[in-house]
Amino acid sequence: MSTRRAAVVCGIGSYVPPDVVTNEDLARSLDTSDDWIRSRTGIARRRVVAPGTATSDLAVEAGLRALKSAGDGRAGAVVLATTTPDQPCPATAPQVAARLGLGEVPAFDVAAVCSGFLYGLASAAGLIAAGVTDRVLLIAADAFTTIINPKDRTTAVIFADGAGAVLLRAGSPREPGAVGPLVLGSDGGLSHLIEVPAGGSRQRSSGREPAPEDRFFRMVGRDTYRHAVERMTVTSTEAAERAGWRPCDVDRFAAHQANARILEAVSERLGIPGERRLSNIATVGNTGAASLPLLLAESAADGRLTAGHRLLLTAFGGGLSWGATTLVWPEVQTT
Ligand code: ACO
Repeated sequence: MSTRRAAVVCGIGSYVPPDVVTNEDLARSLDTSDDWIRSRTGIARRRVVAPGTATSDLAVEAGLRALKSAGDGRAGAVVLATTTPDQPCPATAPQVAARLGLGEVPAFDVAAVCSGFLYGLASAAGLIAAGVTDRVLLIAADAFTTIINPKDRTTAVIFADGAGAVLLRAGSPREPGAVGPLVLGSDGGLSHLIEVPAGGSRQRSSGREPAPEDRFFRMVGRDTYRHAVERMTVTSTEAAERAGWRPCDVDRFAAHQANARILEAVSERLGIPGERRLSNIATVGNTGAASLPLLLAESAADGRLTAGHRLLLTAFGGGLSWGATTLVWPEVQTT
């Protein structure tokens, strides 16, 4: 019998900034159309940060809601998954912990682009298993539009801003909410498919000023699409099998909201009917690391995800990086 201390979801919250950008808004400044964006990505509108708003501002709001949902304001560590930290140094998580009034708790960032929430789950579960703390606040937040080139129609129509958070407590691997086997992977040989070329030590040590467009995010969309479908399918299958499930038997499937066509292709390959696939990409776009917890929070709040559902989660992103895990959804308050 396992005596492992599992990480168990006991609270959830999310936050999106108030400003809405529609496809028509984008089509006013870019060579694109509502029809192209809807048919190729499934996105109709998205939320974006106002000038001066940073990732920590989104993270604090989502973190507050997750703490409230868990019934008390305590957490013994903060893990923040993000690709858009407030500054290159220091990490953003300690400032988020301080603003949440959590005291001098361990706090650090996890950088795994759109797979950040699943890598963050592994970090949080590790903190609990190692006995560092009994309660970890995992926040995934991205002000992704701050690194998007507004003139690049191939990315500007996809990415958006938001945050989601879960509170994890120590518990038994067999109880509802316990994070199941985590399958994670990466392929740095393909890092060039999703990157911000400038701003890191490689460019800075060259002593050369970067070209303005190199400060922005870029993605080789078609190749990324192919890898996303393949990796999320294989990883989901492995995570489900490790949990003793068949992918086609899960009650709900939550995949990183990269592109509606990717989600359809992956769930079709896994044999999961469309009505079991959770999606909110139409209204929030691709919010990077925040995508999965934002989807879970919204789905739990509107009743698409309820206690007892066997849930399969998967993500894919820059790195390349990917992951999947399983969970029986617990009784949690939604805010
Ligand atoms: N509006 C109009 N036309 C456009 C737009 C636009 N916004 N963007 C591209 N096009 C054009 C292209 O120039 C191309 O024209 P051409 O045929 O004359 O060359 C045509 O539309 C088709 O372009 P594709 O790139 O083949 O379009 P595709 O159907 O592949 O859709 C997309 C592009 C949406 C980017 C898709 O490839 C995708 O979703 N890729 C994967 C995204 C993903 O999973 N990312 C990983 C996670 S996110 C992360 O980690 C940060």
